[in-house]
Amino acid sequence: MDCPKKVVLFILSCIAILFIHKNHVSLNVTASNVGLNYGLLGNNLPAPSVVISLYKSIGVTKIRIFDPNTDVLNALRGHRDIGVTVGVKDQDLAALAASEEAVKGWFATNIEPYLADVNITVITVGNEVIPGPIGPQVLPVMQSLTNLVKSKGLPISISTVVSTSGLGQSYPPSAGMFTPQAREQLIPVLKFLSQTNTPILVNMYPYFAYASNPINISLDYTIFNTEAVVVQDGPLGYSNIFDAIFDAFVWAMEKEGVKDLSIVVSETGWPSAGNGELTTPDIAAKYNGNFVKHIKSGKGTPKRPNSSMDGYLFATFNENQKPTGTEQNFGLYDPIDMKPIYKLF
Ligand SMILES: *[C@@H]1O[C@H](CO)[C@@H](O)[C@H](O)[C@H]1NC(C)=O
Ligand SMILES: *[C@@H]1O[C@H](CO)[C@@H](O)[C@H](O)[C@H]1NC(C)=O
Ligand SMILES: *[C@@H]1O[C@H](CO)[C@@H](O)[C@H](O)[C@H]1NC(C)=O
Ligand SMILES: *[C@@H]1O[C@H](CO)[C@@H](O)[C@H](O)[C@H]1NC(C)=O
Repeated sequence: MDCPKKVVLFILSCIAILFIHKNHVSLNVTASNVGLNYGLLGNNLPAPSVVISLYKSIGVTKIRIFDPNTDVLNALRGHRDIGVTVGVKDQDLAALAASEEAVKGWFATNIEPYLADVNITVITVGNEVIPGPIGPQVLPVMQSLTNLVKSKGLPISISTVVSTSGLGQSYPPSAGMFTPQAREQLIPVLKFLSQTNTPILVNMYPYFAYASNPINISLDYTIFNTEAVVVQDGPLGYSNIFDAIFDAFVWAMEKEGVKDLSIVVSETGWPSAGNGELTTPDIAAKYNGNFVKHIKSGKGTPKRPNSSMDGYLFATFNENQKPTGTEQNFGLYDPIDMKPIYKLF
């Protein structure tokens, strides 16, 4: 049968959009500082245009994609109200670090064709590669890209995404300090970002701290479910572990002489399944919902009070091509029917 693929796709998109309009009501992330990660490691994900409609319907104005995926970037054309953070693929770093010409080519191929109608605001160089074997490739690529966007007069920030694994110590927050291996690769990057006045992006997962020690870390402290001070750190009182992790990173930076660098929370989230009673839709809903409330409030953290921060939930969909277990269950939505896995609010 020669049924044109496009017609089928169109009909499927319409069905999916109907689903969105039926189901989106429970989710409202409307706030300029809340974003969503859009991961693509699934073989059952909706078409990008359908996903963009979903974002519009729930008020998402910021998204992060992990590589310059052409289908996604094309679907974003014309939606300039959505600010997009685009990642350079880790496997491209070696070639880009070796040559400024390669960086120009990468930019001309992956970014420039979209700039007229896609609101690309940030390019991230490497995802959680510092500290690690390819960590040293990050800074040269950041420098080349920074020079390039500057020479073109483009308002695009160049940064990198790190995890909190570089923290050798994080408890109490004021003891926060980077490991020697992390220092070697991270400090030059932090100093460079200070010079360009560009935030560092940090993935922060209270879930993993809790899952590694559910006996001694309370769930309420982990999911923003208490106002009580649980950890007193000198004059600073902590009622949630997210703030404690964030501030441990701030303290660690300060110890390296990096005092005012902003942090964007590039990923946080909670799996709704995969690890027994620690990972239920209900707990995931509470963590993510409370996280959104927390950053919408503009309260900041004890060490950086009243400072607004951007935060991106991980992730839009459950992704079935990630490792089995919790990793496949961080999504807010089921990719097959686009239904929310739980109500966020
Ligand atoms: C979403 O939340 C914002 C503010 O938090 C509010 O102004 C808006 O009315 C809400 N939208 C819906 C559809 O509930
Ligand atoms: C592009 O995205 C940024 C960040 O979300 C936002 O501040 C800006 O207003 C957007 N631009 C347009 C034209 O909407
Ligand atoms: C929990 O804390 C107690 C008392 O401080 C300590 O003895 C125990 O080793 C801790 N358990 C874990 C799993 O860290
Ligand atoms: C933060 O804001 C609150 C409420 O507006 C205010 O009482 C407090 O003094 C502020 N703290 C700092 C350190 O600016």
